[in-house]
Order: sequence, then C-alpha cells, then structure tokens
Amino acid sequence: MSTPPTYYERHIFFCLNERTNGEDCCAHHGAKEAFDRCKAQVKAAGLAGPGQVRVNKAGCLDRCAAGPVAVVYPEAVWYSFVDQDDIDEIVESHLKNGQVVERLLTPAHLGR
Ligand code: FES
Repeated sequence: MSTPPTYYERHIFFCLNERTNGEDCCAHHGAKEAFDRCKAQVKAAGLAGPGQVRVNKAGCLDRCAAGPVAVVYPEAVWYSFVDQDDIDEIVESHLKNGQVVERLLTPAHLGR
C-alpha cells in the first residue's frame, strides 16, 4: 500500500502555553509574536493552504527548557527561536524550500 498524500506539505506548531503560577513558559518569551509573524509571512509568501503550509497554535509541547519552541512536520524538526529574523529564516528556508535551519535547532537533550 502506498503512502497517502499529506493534506499539508508542512505543518508548524508553536507552543503558546502561558503559565500564571510563576513558572516559566514559551508565552513569556515572545511565542505569540513569533506565531503571528510566521502566519503573516507564510500568507504573504503565498504558502498558506492545502498542499502547502499550515501554521498552528499548540499548548505545551513539553520542551519548555528549550522555549520558545516550534516543531515542523513531517520532518519533526524542532526549533528554538529568539526573534522575528529567526522566524523569517524558518519560513524562507524550511517552510518554503525544505532546508532545515541548523543554527536554530533545539538541542536534543532539552526537554521540560
Ligand atoms: S511551555 Fe512551551 S514547551 Fe512547555
């Protein structure tokens, strides 16, 4: 049996989890702004939609120590980003051209 075509070519999930109990979380480090930037850039590049790219919110992805984080499927590549330039590079390099942005990869050992 052959693999069915995927609905989206790439799907990126941003942790937008916000904690109000004093513990750290991605929302305290610009996750929402990064999500908004990614969504806008994907749309502006004409990449949004079926057969292309989908940008989604997620709850805690349980890698808080590396946050803020986002993960791209189907490659299951994790990114830790800092600013809008990082997001723009992920969009242009990975989401558009399939090239992983090595400098932003989440260290493999960092979890919660
Ligand atoms: S708060 Fe973002 S991964 Fe847990």
